Amino acid sequence: MKKTEKKQGGFRAPKGMQDLMGKDFYNYQGLCEKASEIAEDYGFKPISTPILEETGVFTSGVGTGTDIVEKEMYSLKTKSGTQLSMRPEGTAPIMRAYIEHGMQTLPQPVMLYYYGNFYRHERPQKGRLREFRQFGLETLGSDKSIGDAIIIKIAMTILEEAGIKNLSLHINSIGDRFCRNTYKKDLVNYYKKNSGEICRDCAKRIKTNPLRVLDCKDPKCQEIKAGAPQSVSYLCDACKQHFKEVLEYLESLGIEYKINHNLVRGLDYYTRTVFEFITKVPSEENGSGQNDPTKEGEKKEPEMIEIALGGGGRYNQLARALGNKKDIPAAGVGLGLDRIIMCKDFKPIMPRSLKKPKFYFIQLGFEAKLQSLRIIEILRKARIGVMHSLNKDSLSAQLATVEKLKIPYAIILGQKEVIEKTVIIRNMEDRSQDEVKVEDLGKYIKKLK
Ligand code: HAM
Repeated sequence: MKKTEKKQGGFRAPKGMQDLMGKDFYNYQGLCEKASEIAEDYGFKPISTPILEETGVFTSGVGTGTDIVEKEMYSLKTKSGTQLSMRPEGTAPIMRAYIEHGMQTLPQPVMLYYYGNFYRHERPQKGRLREFRQFGLETLGSDKSIGDAIIIKIAMTILEEAGIKNLSLHINSIGDRFCRNTYKKDLVNYYKKNSGEICRDCAKRIKTNPLRVLDCKDPKCQEIKAGAPQSVSYLCDACKQHFKEVLEYLESLGIEYKINHNLVRGLDYYTRTVFEFITKVPSEENGSGQNDPTKEGEKKEPEMIEIALGGGGRYNQLARALGNKKDIPAAGVGLGLDRIIMCKDFKPIMPRSLKKPKFYFIQLGFEAKLQSLRIIEILRKARIGVMHSLNKDSLSAQLATVEKLKIPYAIILGQKEVIEKTVIIRNMEDRSQDEVKVEDLGKYIKKLK
């Protein structure tokens, strides 16, 4: 298509990508604010990394044999020949930033949170987008098992605050680079012995990324998978102790979990703990969650499928994969915000900017209108949210709006008040009024709050 040529029927957002607006925008904004507030309460600090990174951050960090890197990255070459990729995930960029900014010199662990858009060229389907949103938490510079537990606890709190029920925490330990090697060898040998009974993808995986055979959903492989060796049986003493402690922390926090021996996760950087938060949603065909009447008028139960609302784990070797001389122990989680919002139980959290204000500003007459913006600015600086309709003139029309919106206080500025440099604060419930000097307004209102 020529540059100037318009597309027939107009342009659309790219496949698997969506415009976010109206209710959906506020749901995303409110959820990010709540998650950030919880992260801050636990001592995490915000970070925002570029959407584009050098491709090597992901090929070295996430791993060349992974689906994300092998098939799903959006990559480009700049005019100067640098190979960049749109971030498919946030952990490798954050480790890159930690190393680049010498965060090793800060008190450890460094605890960071982030949210934003990520890009994977996957086949779009329910809960699977090409541009999706994540909220992530990373704790870097400590190998203590309590770090894994804190990450799980905060992620769980965020999911609970978002109203998510029927959540199940799946957890496993895949060991470190030493004990995992023996496990991998045994797993490969086991699959090779049964090579006649496995699907073509698993035959490939066993060569490129053996642990991924445990993810296989093909019915043909299920029996073989059930008999496969389990990673927990291969853990060295240190990895075993770490896993035991993580589970003990979860128990003492009252967090239920299910040890899932098939959980390995699709990114190469994990060591020891891996986990996922799983819930069930109606499948694509029955996406509405409604029962579909069949031809005979019978009701068909919607087929439920499992999806991960978030996942994470420990990644002690990622720093070295990114070229650092030493390992930097770390753990983290990524929560899929689009999937959380899509859940039936999702409870919208109102963004701070939309919280119903307690005050409504009313002005009467031209002089008062002139002063209005000055008063609203005084309130804004004192961080007092106030509604108004400066385009309205009559007192009754403005009072009617206050009544309709059930706003508890009106701040009234008339001709007399402009001259006396005062305003009237009216309590809309008991109709009592106070005259307050403009200079004392911020202080007076703070007392009322
Ligand atoms: P991940 O499991 O690839 O992990 O992604 C985390 C979550 O993002 C998933 O559980 C899912 O909810 C959501 N998600 C992933 N892909 C899509 C998609 N195509 N469409 C919609 N939602 C999606 C990571 O990304 C790791 N960086 C997590 C982590 C942080 N590990 C340690 N620290």
